[in-house]
Amino acid sequence: MKHHPLLGRVVGGSALVAVLLAFAPVAAAPPVEQPSIFAPVSTPAFIIREVSFFVLAITAVIFVLVSGVGVYALIRFRRRQTDDGREPPQVYGSQQIELAWTLVPLLIVIVLFLVTTRYIYGVERRAQPADALAVTIIGHQWWWEIRYPKLGIVTANELHVPMSAASLPMPTFITLQSADVIHSFWIPQLAGKMDVIPNKTNRLWIEPLRAGTYVGQCAEYCGAQHAGMLLIVTVHTPEEFARWVSDQRAPARSDGQVAAGRELFSTLACINCHTVRGTTADGVFGPDLTHLMSRSTIGAGVIQNTPQTLRDWVEDPASIKPGALMPAMKLSREDVDKVTAYLLTLR
Ligand code: CUA
Repeated sequence: MKHHPLLGRVVGGSALVAVLLAFAPVAAAPPVEQPSIFAPVSTPAFIIREVSFFVLAITAVIFVLVSGVGVYALIRFRRRQTDDGREPPQVYGSQQIELAWTLVPLLIVIVLFLVTTRYIYGVERRAQPADALAVTIIGHQWWWEIRYPKLGIVTANELHVPMSAASLPMPTFITLQSADVIHSFWIPQLAGKMDVIPNKTNRLWIEPLRAGTYVGQCAEYCGAQHAGMLLIVTVHTPEEFARWVSDQRAPARSDGQVAAGRELFSTLACINCHTVRGTTADGVFGPDLTHLMSRSTIGAGVIQNTPQTLRDWVEDPASIKPGALMPAMKLSREDVDKVTAYLLTLR
């Protein structure tokens, strides 16, 4: 467990880490690391760390030089008993000095510009191999829709990808779109930030080399629950990933014991916003619920997904996530129980 408290707070993902850690013994979830650009596990993120260290090194040299000269001047030219109180000689215009402080920063900026351009170009230039995993992620207020078009999988807020290895490269190419306002997709340990813009498609790729769970969040203010728009990425070994894919492709479970809940659900407005594959529920405004219980959190990472929190969510989403666009359906106690019982079978 690495701790980068400051960065964690900057990212905001620490809230999600806290949610996941608080329930870790119950869920037996894999360890979650604090999101940090200094602990990369995926190719574009390695490059970003490299260029960050390069920029930090240059700026550290500048900092030491400037503050060193400043401290030297403070001590060397401090006021002494023997001072006669007159102004020191004033120098106006020195071609050498002015050239130096114009050209040196200019050179530094050019070097930083060229190095950054080279790195960005290196990341963007990579063509998508025909067999690469393709994922489309759509930002919504305030959750992430995640689609695997070639696999026929639709899920939300928790991205699953395979691990890559030198012997078996398995990069994931992500297409980013927005359903409403500008969001920003950022998993610090996997890749750089990429804005998610309405009517524009952005692309990003990741190639994680280590299995594990990595967190991130929306990095562009997008409304009341911007801070409640968290992301979890689980990087699986290829075998585990294949298992996850086949679980997700399976149709929704149909458990006879919760027929009443299923019936009720299908008569409620729930079905206008949510999809449960193979049923009349085919809405697309809210998250796909076909395998709802395979997800560890609800409300885009704001709380752990347990029978109790799910029930509270169905009863009144705003009690957990104020401002959430899902309305409280004003159901009776029994109806909330029935619907929750049905949802709990959607594994
Ligand atoms: Cu979506 Cu901030």
